[in-house]
Amino acid sequence: MREAEPMREAEPMSEAELLGKPGLDGKPELIRDVGTSTVLQVRGLNVYYGESHILRDVDLTVKSGQMVCLIGRNGVGKTTLLKTVMGLLRQRMGEVELAGREVSGLPPHGRARGGIGYVPQGREIIAQLTVRENLLLGLEALPGGLSRNRHIDPVVFELFPILETFLNRRGGDLSGGQQQQLAIARALLGKPRLLLLDEPTEGIQPSVVLDIERAVRRIIQTTGISVLLVEQHLHFVRQADWYYAMQKGGVVASGPTTELSKEVVDRFLSV
Ligand SMILES: Nc1ncnc2c1ncn2[C@@H]1O[C@H](COP(=O)(O)OP(=O)(O)OP(=O)(O)O)[C@@H](O)[C@H]1O
Ligand SMILES: [Mg+2]
Repeated sequence: MREAEPMREAEPMSEAELLGKPGLDGKPELIRDVGTSTVLQVRGLNVYYGESHILRDVDLTVKSGQMVCLIGRNGVGKTTLLKTVMGLLRQRMGEVELAGREVSGLPPHGRARGGIGYVPQGREIIAQLTVRENLLLGLEALPGGLSRNRHIDPVVFELFPILETFLNRRGGDLSGGQQQQLAIARALLGKPRLLLLDEPTEGIQPSVVLDIERAVRRIIQTTGISVLLVEQHLHFVRQADWYYAMQKGGVVASGPTTELSKEVVDRFLSV
């Protein structure tokens, strides 16, 4: 579900921080070359919106090539966790490490260039731009950004053929499922090592849910990209290697998805 309440800008990074921090721009190899099997390590994360304590001591690990699923009912803090990993929100305490490197000081674009791809809840496709233009935005995450990169890797059309057919259509004219495919493709074009997917099947018709599920599986199998997924569809959740269940801003259960019991599913999934 989308958060419907008015947004209180609590602790996002300031404009100066977003623009001015020395990041890893142009030097993603600093991150990519680290030889470690842990892609994402979150430790003791505490995040507040104003005085509301939203995330409480969250620990989470994503290993290389793994698909990890975050489950939990509405409002428990799943999106807040993903936004904090992406650098859109700042933690009050705790650490976020990407491939063994602390990234807490990096703004979102520094983390994107360091290898995190983000598909936000609700997709955030730019309605006025064409599919091609929306895809090009994904190239911003590459070294040199859009000024140096103009090539749309056709692998995204193998994953999502409809995008090639609709290249010149406005993003706003696509169906919800097509927009979701576009958002995933856009994130992939930045060549991430870790893809954050926030409820990619929310509000999407069942046949397209399966298309997206298959595409995500294929991305992991063929590219070795790791995925941290927020998802409510049990079938999709079961595709993951590992799950973390959240309640009231904390992780209250975790384990291999093969051990996801009916009790856990009933407690933590809304559907
Ligand atoms: N911009 C904001 N300002 C203030 N409070 C917020 C803001 N965004 C979210 N919250 C609150 O933080 C808590 C966690 O929200 P979050 O969006 O992370 O939950 P979620 O698990 O993603 O929920 P959903 O399943 O509905 O997407 C909720 O209580 C929500 O009301
Ligand atoms: Mg959410």
